[in-house]
Amino acid sequence: MKIIGVIGAGQMGAGIAQVSAAAGYDVLLSDRDKPLADKGVAGIAKILARSVEKEKISTADRDATLARIKTVGSTADFGPCDLVIEAATEREEIKRAIFAEVGKVLRTDAILASNTSSIPITRLAQAAPDASRFIGVHFFNPVPVMGLIELIRGLATSDATLAAVEAFGRKLGKEIVHANDAPGFIVNRVLMPMINEAIFALGEGVATMQDIDAGCRLGLNHPMGPITLADFIGLDTCLEIIRVLHSGTGDPKFRPAPLLVKYVEAGWTGKKSGRGFYDWTGPEPVPTR
Ligand code: 3HC
Repeated sequence: MKIIGVIGAGQMGAGIAQVSAAAGYDVLLSDRDKPLADKGVAGIAKILARSVEKEKISTADRDATLARIKTVGSTADFGPCDLVIEAATEREEIKRAIFAEVGKVLRTDAILASNTSSIPITRLAQAAPDASRFIGVHFFNPVPVMGLIELIRGLATSDATLAAVEAFGRKLGKEIVHANDAPGFIVNRVLMPMINEAIFALGEGVATMQDIDAGCRLGLNHPMGPITLADFIGLDTCLEIIRVLHSGTGDPKFRPAPLLVKYVEAGWTGKKSGRGFYDWTGPEPVPTR
């Protein structure tokens, strides 16, 4: 593999583009339009500049990584890609439309992967040009920091597709775990009930949000408390995933916390909107309740 296409230049897509370019791949990064893709690269440049300041990478490394990323306004230019990773909005109809679009130009030996956090891979594969060359490649946020990739095979994913994507993941320096195509895969199956439960506990007045977060941070040695982490991931994303767990398993233990639903309805989706359970507009998140 030499050329990686990344669809979606948001937090996840930009992170995937960054680590792919840093590992030596040429990257084509697209979004709904070129200015959005360029915005993703501006974010990558900022992160790399910080790494230079901290003397983690040289200026030459930074320049080489940035030079390997080319932005495009649509996937029409993805013809030369060996692997295309879709990291667009977590909405099935959007992903299906993207697969139809990129399918028009994808080589017949190229692999299409989705960074979906919860949509079943076998179902998504139906919208891909070839289900045997389709796979789930789930990265974690922030992509440059988190050491894991979850690989999810659909029913029709071939051994060759899996092997090629495993080799790609290892070249990025990530550990790989394999999950079956079950709701939430591994990490979100475990994480989202914890986040949901923390929000239930908050709604029921078990403790303040600061104490729930500090309890888990210090009592469990987690880098962030679950309510901060929910804001960091995006409350809408958390709700979407918990709903997939609920509908996919039919198990009432996954019912979404009413307070989580309320916050999403209010548009308080967390860090990305400036407000969730915390106010993120300043240098440090400030509790809002
Ligand atoms: N991009 C690149 N690097 C970043 C970054 C970003 N967005 N944010 C932080 N970093 C780097 C910093 O530069 C710093 O690097 P250094 O150690 O080389 O100096 C390092 O990460 C630590 O950052 P900070 O000192 O600023 O802050 P913290 O020590 O508080 O760490 C954190 C920040 C890495 C985000 C840490 O709090 C953490 O690990 N939080 C948990 C994150 C997590 O659980 N992610 C998974 C979410 S679930 C998911 O993604 C799945 C999805 O489907 C929902």
